[in-house]
Amino acid sequence: MLSEKHQIVHAPFREEILSPLPPLIRSALVSMYNGEPQIGLDGERHNLHVGTGISTDEGMWLFNLCCEVKPKATLEVGLACGFSTLYFLAAIHENGFGHHTAIDPFQSHFYGIGLRHSENVGMSDRFRFLEKKSALALSQLARGEETFPLIFIDGRHHFEYALSDFMLASELCPAGGYIIFDDFGWSSVNRVVAFVRSNRKDFEELKIPVASLAAFRRIGDDERPYGHFVEFFEPFGSWSEMRSTIRPLVPSLVRRGVKAIARLVKPYQSKPRPPS
Ligand SMILES: C[S@@+](CC[C@H](N)C(=O)[O-])C[C@H]1O[C@@H](n2cnc3c(N)ncnc32)[C@H](O)[C@@H]1O
Repeated sequence: MLSEKHQIVHAPFREEILSPLPPLIRSALVSMYNGEPQIGLDGERHNLHVGTGISTDEGMWLFNLCCEVKPKATLEVGLACGFSTLYFLAAIHENGFGHHTAIDPFQSHFYGIGLRHSENVGMSDRFRFLEKKSALALSQLARGEETFPLIFIDGRHHFEYALSDFMLASELCPAGGYIIFDDFGWSSVNRVVAFVRSNRKDFEELKIPVASLAAFRRIGDDERPYGHFVEFFEPFGSWSEMRSTIRPLVPSLVRRGVKAIARLVKPYQSKPRPPS
């Protein structure tokens, strides 16, 4: 069991938003969003980790995109308790075909709750789980020449991991396919998105109504000349980011200003006495 501080705190959510989903999947999601303890692979009930799953807005956007694009195969990095997986499985159920692959090396941290959900909703035959770090799993999929027209990146949120997930995912994404980042608001993910925007012209960004996601569609091949690089640093992605960057600098700027003034006035303060 997780300690008190790890128990999930749920804002009330609107259950109606999930009404287009198949009943079994909908009730699994409702139970998780309501913060009910979930059954793991050990058959025991466990409390959920705080904030690991995607929101209903994100999930329904992914579900609708899958229903529209009708991909033969979908892929996600980051299974955790299986919120996003359930939306993908719901779209496969709706489309009547498709297969979903989830990558996560740490399912045991989540008591196998994500895997248990895919079994409970009766879609094990449409689901594959790769219990590996994404760099390894994505490389293996690329070696097997598999392609995935819809890829969701929600794994390790450090800058270089999200960048590596994108780079390897781009090897698996065919023309016309989609790569979607979760947690666009995180500075680490935000910088990766800034890189893709300015350097990967083989992807176009979609304007979407969910602010926490960033979505790209593959529109061509990667034809950059050798060594091509466009600066991608967007110093201030938002006002709040600008404030949080500048605030810690203020005391040191003030200190430096005071020292500079002190240096300027010093020569006039005390003149050395001529030797007697
Ligand atoms: C934010 S959670 C994913 C939430 C999930 N998409 C959902 O909606 O329920 C991030 C997941 O990334 C996984 N993760 C951490 N490092 C990873 C890595 N190197 N490769 C793949 N997954 C990783 C964690 O174990 C965790 O389950």
